[in-house]
Amino acid sequence: MLPGEDAIFVAEELQKRFQLPYWQFALTATDANRFSIRLARQITGRPKILVYNWCYHGTVDETFITLERNGAAGPRPGNIGPPVNPAVTTRVVEFNDADALERALAPGDVACVLAEPAMTNVGIVHAQPGYHQALRELTRKHGTLLILDETHTICAGPGGYTRAENLEPDVLVFGKAIGAGIPGAAYGFSQEVADRIVARQELENCDVGGIGGTLAGNALSLAAMRATLTKVLTKEAFDRMIPMAERWTGGVAKAIADAELPWHVTRLGCRAEYLFSAEKPKNGMQAHDGMDFELERFMHLYAMNRGILLTPFHNMALMSPQTENEDIDKHTKIFREAVTEISG
Ligand SMILES: Cc1ncc(COP(=O)(O)O)c(C=O)c1O
Repeated sequence: MLPGEDAIFVAEELQKRFQLPYWQFALTATDANRFSIRLARQITGRPKILVYNWCYHGTVDETFITLERNGAAGPRPGNIGPPVNPAVTTRVVEFNDADALERALAPGDVACVLAEPAMTNVGIVHAQPGYHQALRELTRKHGTLLILDETHTICAGPGGYTRAENLEPDVLVFGKAIGAGIPGAAYGFSQEVADRIVARQELENCDVGGIGGTLAGNALSLAAMRATLTKVLTKEAFDRMIPMAERWTGGVAKAIADAELPWHVTRLGCRAEYLFSAEKPKNGMQAHDGMDFELERFMHLYAMNRGILLTPFHNMALMSPQTENEDIDKHTKIFREAVTEISG
């Protein structure tokens, strides 16, 4: 509500990184996703959204939907107080399944697909060759907007997965790391989306539309985003962090192989993660099947007791500009001890 110079600087920097001309600010990635969904519904006039099985996009009500083994969609176990059955608002398909996507979009009632370009919240699930092209073609064909949530996949490089793979989302969301700990998030959209928003907006009612918030775009948040984009999430930092993630992945892969455990490790840019299955998953269901709550708790506790705090969900490691090779080697040593104990 109080535009400042930093907002202009940050928006211009985001334009350069992601090639989208218009940017708005929010305080969290959750909010940026919620606001993007609202805008998508507003300009398409369609009621539904579509997400991937076992996705996570923050505490956005519509996204807590999973596919059961019989293919039926239902509320995700553990979601607290859902307002309605999410099947009312949402379709859910498996990642990497273009046929299922086509079937779900065909009725013409889906406002947007909200997607991570690679899944990162159920372990890492990479896109299969050709999947992104199919996703873009099918969303365009059926008049559905494509929102890419780059909140985690920014780990792929300074322009996230979108620039690394030359994707063309209609809307792009970037939160969390953008403020390096100070609440802040941004969502950007194409000229066409901007024109459609303006065409539907009445000036008199423009402050009651369910997007924004008193503190969205506040001066501290924007100063943090400016500092982060210019001093932390730089190309130089990624050039250092990505090889470190390769080192982490290499160490973990070798320890898994030596212990002959049916596990694997995957990397996306400067993020890496191990999962308790031999095969790399192609979709959320397979990835979720590779999780093991008890084993995960053991690995976290084992590491914590030896001075390493893993991110609190699944087995994910992110290299930061402060990470050193010794940190990685320390993790590899402790990980090797843990898997040796398990396999012994
Ligand atoms: C891909 C993705 N989007 C959005 C969010 C929500 O972020 P926040 O909790 O900061 O709103 C998360 C959080 O983990 C996320 O992984």
